[in-house]
Amino acid sequence: MIAVLRSFANKTSSYLHALLKFFRASVPLMTQRYRSASLRFKIAFFVVILLTSTSFILCIVTVQIMNNYILNEIIKRGESVGKSIAASAGYNLMPKDLLGLDNLVFKAKSSNSDMLYVTIVDPDMKTIVHSATEMIGETKPIAQGRLYRETADGTTVKELTNSSGSIFEILCPIVFMNKSLGSVIIGMNKSILIEAQRKVGNMILIVFGIIVVLGIFASSLLASFLIKPIKELSAGVEELKYGTTKNPLRIYSQDELGKLTHNFNEMSALIATQRGKLTEYARDLEEAYVSIVKVVAAAIDARDSYTHGHSARVAQLSLLIGNQIGISKEDLRDLEVACLFHDVGKIKTPDSILLKPGKLTEAEYKEMKQHVVYGASILSWAPSLFKYIPSTRHHHEWHNGKGYPDGLVGDNIPLFAAIITIADAFDAMTSDRPYRKALFKEEALRQIARNSGTQFRPDLVEIFLELMEKDDVQDAPLSVVGAVG
Ligand SMILES: [Fe+2]
Repeated sequence: MIAVLRSFANKTSSYLHALLKFFRASVPLMTQRYRSASLRFKIAFFVVILLTSTSFILCIVTVQIMNNYILNEIIKRGESVGKSIAASAGYNLMPKDLLGLDNLVFKAKSSNSDMLYVTIVDPDMKTIVHSATEMIGETKPIAQGRLYRETADGTTVKELTNSSGSIFEILCPIVFMNKSLGSVIIGMNKSILIEAQRKVGNMILIVFGIIVVLGIFASSLLASFLIKPIKELSAGVEELKYGTTKNPLRIYSQDELGKLTHNFNEMSALIATQRGKLTEYARDLEEAYVSIVKVVAAAIDARDSYTHGHSARVAQLSLLIGNQIGISKEDLRDLEVACLFHDVGKIKTPDSILLKPGKLTEAEYKEMKQHVVYGASILSWAPSLFKYIPSTRHHHEWHNGKGYPDGLVGDNIPLFAAIITIADAFDAMTSDRPYRKALFKEEALRQIARNSGTQFRPDLVEIFLELMEKDDVQDAPLSVVGAVG
């Protein structure tokens, strides 16, 4: 026995443990899903739960009230019939009118289908008349069952359980001229009561179901109605975030949500105004920045009369190449500024070297080459100029790695630097120098082609030569930030 109990306890414990584990695993998942659900679903869900639970409780309470009402009505009818028989039976019992008593019992039984039996007993509980005639003369034992009700006149109602099921037995005393002559006993079939209660219960359940279905439909509509302004507000915030706000949001009501929408519209208008001003400031700033770049480039070129306008021409040629290889407009702008800055390091190169008409000594040439390092150093002073450092530092690198300052090879040379190298060399060759006259365009292009793959990147040379074959190409005022004056 103990072993059986222990086994049962172990099984119960393992089931409870598994159940607990399931709840622990499912609750966070459900919580997470609920959190990520839409507001409309949450409102509808809350209303449906509220409505269903309220309707369910109301349904249970109503069924209980109706059950009690039906029970009372059936018992009251039984009592009424019993008392009616008892009142008449007194007149028949005194003269021992058995025929009259039998008639009373027969009429009561035949007119009430839910009565199982009707009997009249004497004070010693001996059956005088019974709806089942074979019971006449039998002594009826005192009913043992739950006393349901007892009234002052001695009427009792008991709930009995026998082989045919559960019944109510109503006992009404027969009193005639203050003398107790016996009792009328009626057996009421409880199945009639149960059937009536079942029908009422079904009807209430149908009504409950209709209320729940209508509730779900209504809560969905209500949620949509409530959520509409919130959804529009959310979309408005999204538009504001990406700066695509078009019109003020519609205000549906004057409640808290309406005030929130009104404030949002005001805030949105203010942000749009501020954004416009910021764009204007940014444009002014950019123009100022471009002007400074132009001034710096002009200052670099102005130190040497032979290189006047050099940076602007390098920019123009570089943009032709950049445009041809399909780089974006934003990158073209960076390429142009990079061209204007590419020789900024020459600011630190002494005039004795920069303007020397003759050939440079080895030491002077070494110092001259330093201009790319100086330029990178100058651009490193401002974070906004960092992006021009690679093209400034590496615009004298060679494709075969024999350039300076780092000896980068092939594709390791930044694209802008590789473009500027070609444009820089072409402009230098086609400009007068103190020690030589400018080369003709055709000769310069031959030099460029000759050095393709050694000094210059071959694919860029090919593009450059194709561009230069067009007669009007250098006349095109190609500039993104504007030509340097
Ligand atoms: Fe240079």
